[in-house]
Amino acid sequence: MATTNSSTMRIGVVGYGHLGQHLVERIIKDGAGLGLTLAFVWNRNPHKLKGSVPDQLILEDLSAFKTRECQVIVEVCHPKIVKDFGVQFLTHAHFLVGSPSALCDPLLNQQLRHAASHHGNTLYVPSGALWGGQDIQRLNDSGALTGVFVRMSKHPSCFRLTEDTLSDWTEGEGRRVLFSGSVAELCPLAPNNVNTMAAVAVAAGTLGFSGVRGEIVSDTALRDFHVVEVEVSGANGFSVHTVRRNPAQLGAVTGSATYSSFWHSLLVCKGHGGRVYLC
Ligand SMILES: NC(=O)c1ccc[n+]([C@@H]2O[C@H](COP(=O)([O-])OP(=O)(O)OC[C@H]3O[C@@H](n4cnc5c(N)ncnc54)[C@H](O)[C@@H]3O)[C@@H](O)[C@H]2O)c1
Repeated sequence: MATTNSSTMRIGVVGYGHLGQHLVERIIKDGAGLGLTLAFVWNRNPHKLKGSVPDQLILEDLSAFKTRECQVIVEVCHPKIVKDFGVQFLTHAHFLVGSPSALCDPLLNQQLRHAASHHGNTLYVPSGALWGGQDIQRLNDSGALTGVFVRMSKHPSCFRLTEDTLSDWTEGEGRRVLFSGSVAELCPLAPNNVNTMAAVAVAAGTLGFSGVRGEIVSDTALRDFHVVEVEVSGANGFSVHTVRRNPAQLGAVTGSATYSSFWHSLLVCKGHGGRVYLC
């Protein structure tokens, strides 16, 4: 289990793109007052870190992460890193998985859950742009959840798809449904766009990735916002429908409110035992 000699949480940040830079800056700026400090920062191209991250905090080789004392490791780069290192991270520390779409792989999902339970470390899944995740989880845990549908609508420039579905978009074309089906099928097609849906699938554990329905919609009218709609149904006609408008710059995969949400997710990571915890 991740332990510390003081009340300070030492954080290892894996990835230094938009989200990684945001977290590192905030830990450096606000961390001391909140009991957080950096243990290390890793990026596949370490040169990007020079000048912004103190030299002694730069980890050149990710497989050497155990040489740094830390209580929480945050992945903010790519689902592949979750696949390659997630289980090892959990042997050493709590793990905040920034790319939870990786959990759509049932074997990896099971291995991560097992590692968390075996080592007494928590696998944290950030809510991201999801509104009401804890409520979905509570409904799930009470046994009354019967269905969840999530629709994400964005300007076409905000999608990063693995298939060529959107290469022919034109400004002003309006709305186009790109995919509708299970979140399990959707994750490999749009790994960078479905982290919020993956968080829903974790919250709605009884339905899981194959039981939660997802839809991604390209809409040229959405120049300033991403829209996340969640429809939840439960026993005896219970239903909730939320619509979240997430301010986002044109071309940005991640809405600006999500950065702040992610930071607050990190503040929750103080150890919740050997389990998966939506934060
Ligand atoms: N859970 C959430 O709410 C949420 C929100 C935003 C982003 N994300 C996810 O977090 C991750 C980072 O997001 P971002 O906005 O900072 O992205 P980004 O593109 O700005 O940065 C990604 C970083 O990871 C590196 N990288 C990419 N592929 C890699 C690979 N295969 N191996 C190692 N490094 C690799 C890139 O060089 C870059 O430094 C993405 O997977 C994204 O989908 C999750």
